[in-house]
Amino acid sequence: MKCKITKSIIKPFMSFGKMPLANGFLSEKDFKKEFFYNLEVGFSKKLSLLQINEHPKPTQMFNKSYPFFTGSSKFMQIHFQNYANFINKKLKIGSNLIEIGSNDGTFLSNFDEKKINVLGIEPSKNVSDLARKKGIKSINKFFNKDLLNSIKINKHNTDIITAANVICHVPNLKNLIETIDSLLNKNGKFIFEEPYMGSMFKKTSYDQIYDEHIYMFSCTSIKKIFRLFDLYLVDAIPQITHGGSMRYIISRKKNETVNLNRILDQEKKMNLDNLQSCLEFKKNCEISKYKLNKKINDFLKRGKTISGYAATSKSTTILNYCNIGKDKINYICDTTKDKINKFSPGKHIPIKDMKYFRNNKTDFVFLFGWNHKKEIFKKEKKFIKKNQWFSHITL
Ligand code: TMP
Repeated sequence: MKCKITKSIIKPFMSFGKMPLANGFLSEKDFKKEFFYNLEVGFSKKLSLLQINEHPKPTQMFNKSYPFFTGSSKFMQIHFQNYANFINKKLKIGSNLIEIGSNDGTFLSNFDEKKINVLGIEPSKNVSDLARKKGIKSINKFFNKDLLNSIKINKHNTDIITAANVICHVPNLKNLIETIDSLLNKNGKFIFEEPYMGSMFKKTSYDQIYDEHIYMFSCTSIKKIFRLFDLYLVDAIPQITHGGSMRYIISRKKNETVNLNRILDQEKKMNLDNLQSCLEFKKNCEISKYKLNKKINDFLKRGKTISGYAATSKSTTILNYCNIGKDKINYICDTTKDKINKFSPGKHIPIKDMKYFRNNKTDFVFLFGWNHKKEIFKKEKKFIKKNQWFSHITL
């Protein structure tokens, strides 16, 4: 392959300051040894690619106990059913399907294993074990070239490789894409979804930027990256997940759809192919930070109390960038067992269960899980009135 891309440090255009691991929920005894890094964001002009410079090693993030379970959201379960239907239409009986970062098997559980040969590759042991318990073939390994030598797998024999919210986590895109290239057959497709740079810029949802999201993609960047490997972006379909995502379809044959060309044109108009949109985004982040602090300080001045809803990875960026601690937010409630009774990364706000939330009502609730708004509002409408919810973006 003639490609040269490996992740290199590029001059940052903005910094979110000192940041802990987004999913580093911790106990009090671990406060002193908490890991921090500098969350700086750069933009590669060559690839039109937004990336963070410093990030922990993947083995530090995806290990024995990754606290995120795909199946924990009803909305995401339905999304993965629809995603699987979309993929199923492209498969035949006996087709081979691989999912990169298959988590607890939520996506793969939608395929009939008697008809489709499914295989999940998942680096975090706890979630991979859970998938296996559900009867889904899941290998607890990172998806890279080493995999090809460590398991029995035929090269150029896979019809479709999929991923969802995974590729932006992988620092070495070259190794990843070369592994995909080794596995896909002649007509094979790589189909994946990621949070979309265009949506993040539109909403100023800067909380999409954290250690696990090393890259933020657009159609322009994906087209440029894959072209280096003789693979081609042929179509893209916007998704509403994660506050705005894009599903990318990669093929060995160059055959761009009219729809893709329309999105690429839109991206040009939005300056997603150059630094100008990034500088605008930086300005908008600063304004957002100022407005959020003003709103919270106004609530507190009026003697109001605030709690947080959903201890998302994204909340770590908001709380640390905007310097909001437990003096302002009493607690954050969450449904995840591994987070409950721990403290939020960096700002050490207590994480409580939903029972605590019901028994310790506050005047206002910061919806950190804003991308799950529909599902959460439906569940909580008896407990919280519409005007009590707020977030750093418009709800
Ligand atoms: P994420 O945005 O990093 O994927 O995290 C989602 C978090 O939101 C996860 O910890 C579970 C939590 N959550 C709730 O507590 N209640 C809910 O209704 C939903 C949808 C998510």
